[in-house]
Amino acid sequence: MDNAIRKIVILGGGTAGWMAASYLGKALNHTVDITVLAAPDIPTLGVGEATIPNLQTAFFDFLGIAEDEWMRECNASYKMAVKFINWRTGGDGVPQARDLNGRPDHFYHVFGLLPYHDQLPLSHYWFYKRWTQQSDEPFDYACYKEPPILDAKLAPRWMDGTRATNYAWHFDAHLVADYLRRFATEKLGVRHIPDQMVHVTQSENGFIESLTTKSGLVLTADLFIDCSGFRGALINRALGEPFLDMRDHLLCDSAVASVVPHDDEANGVEPYTSAIAMKAGWTWKIPMLGRFGSGYVYSSRFADEEEAVRDFCALWNLDPETTSLNKIRFRVGRNRRAWVKNCVSIGTSSCFVEPLESTGIYFIYAALYQLVKHFPDRNFNPVLIDRFNREIELMFDDTRDFIQAHFYFSPRMDTPFWRANKRLQLGDNMRDKMEMYRAGLGINCPPTDDAQVYYGNFEEEFRNFWNNSNYYCVLAGLGHVPEAPTPRLNHMASSLASVDAVFDKVKKEQRELLQTLPTCYEFLRKQHGR
Ligand code: FDA
Repeated sequence: MDNAIRKIVILGGGTAGWMAASYLGKALNHTVDITVLAAPDIPTLGVGEATIPNLQTAFFDFLGIAEDEWMRECNASYKMAVKFINWRTGGDGVPQARDLNGRPDHFYHVFGLLPYHDQLPLSHYWFYKRWTQQSDEPFDYACYKEPPILDAKLAPRWMDGTRATNYAWHFDAHLVADYLRRFATEKLGVRHIPDQMVHVTQSENGFIESLTTKSGLVLTADLFIDCSGFRGALINRALGEPFLDMRDHLLCDSAVASVVPHDDEANGVEPYTSAIAMKAGWTWKIPMLGRFGSGYVYSSRFADEEEAVRDFCALWNLDPETTSLNKIRFRVGRNRRAWVKNCVSIGTSSCFVEPLESTGIYFIYAALYQLVKHFPDRNFNPVLIDRFNREIELMFDDTRDFIQAHFYFSPRMDTPFWRANKRLQLGDNMRDKMEMYRAGLGINCPPTDDAQVYYGNFEEEFRNFWNNSNYYCVLAGLGHVPEAPTPRLNHMASSLASVDAVFDKVKKEQRELLQTLPTCYEFLRKQHGR
């Protein structure tokens, strides 16, 4: 084992840097000397407040950190869905859903899996009922137990802490990075050097040998992790790996964000992220106790900064002169290879899509999981590197395609931005998937409808990340449905008769949860001791 990796330097102390330090510190069992070099004068992004459910199982459980512990430290709240508001009706950005044929223009993208009935997912029966005009109930309210409890702003857990449903979290990104910094340095022996890297020394074969800091330190290592953010200080600038710009799929490249005070007692705490459609993009609303984080993600090709600030402030009645606004430009796409020689990029130095489905932090721990799975020694076997790079490519491109579909299949055509989205090309894989969807097939139907089993196996989830449930929520929510029910249903009369019991069970669960769950505000107050 003489060739084992002995030293790792992580460049960057944002969410990616500290997640990497904690995860690798734990996975490598104190056998490797880990240093985080982070420049105090180069600010972190500090956004990244909404997550997805496997954060606990794939990341915090791996570190041995209980949910209630980190939640308290990071002012975390709950997220049971993304609520898409006004993605079908044209008009200005407003927080309330407009009218759409007598119903509000909103839909929920709920976590979790759809039940199967006689080998077909419930989505397919829902569509059959709609096609045969037996029901016009929206997909989300008909097939999932969550929508009424979301409308009522209830918690996903009962007062004794037991889980009632699948959920993820909202949190303060600065607090998370700080919490993980303390965890990594105090519990795992990670060294923190607050200093700026000013020079990279490479050997003749292009491998990184050392980083020199502003104060003159020279840090050598076997493996370097680039968590330096959008600048890609090691992977792009030093090693020259090209970043593949994907604005031909996704038009948004900028954001203006702020924190908005909120009266929880009067209005409750919404247990979901909202994605409010705007003229040149969309705005996130991420509730936490006492405030919500919000940001208008827009395309600089269709709105300039002044216009974006004006529309964002108008949405929440903020004064643009006195409100502190975080103005962000981001790159969209991924490195051609995330791992080159002895440098692995993780976080925004590796890849980025706009946060419509809150995937940024997921990309970080998914990459860390893959890095540990493909962990090298000092021979840097190219097979390990290639396999890792393929996994990251698959992860990223699949999510890019899914997010593009939100804009592409939205029926909105009222502004140049929404019209331009319809002129973009979908990726080849996405076109295949849409053909399947239109023909009545499921997309990536998981092998089980047991959420505990499915979410308990990260490898399985990673490979089928956006599954039939996700596609149906978003596509049916946008009003885009198959051309006809799957022909197999012509031969399933008894299943069509007995499926009512499954829909009735959903309704019964909705009623029971409405009666027994506390409000999200009540639960959070108790949990955070406020
Ligand atoms: P970040 O930029 O935060 O950190 C870079 C670090 O590198 C800093 O510590 C800096 O000092 C250091 N550094 C750089 N150069 C250096 C040098 N020369 N020497 C030393 N140190 C150096 N994700 C999500 O999951 N949910 C969400 O809701 C959102 N929302 C969201 C909104 C918007 C507008 C954006 C742009 C992004 C998101 N994200 C997100 C993504 C999320 O913000 C992101 O994944 C994490 O913050 C990770 O950021 P990084 O750590 O990669 O970079």
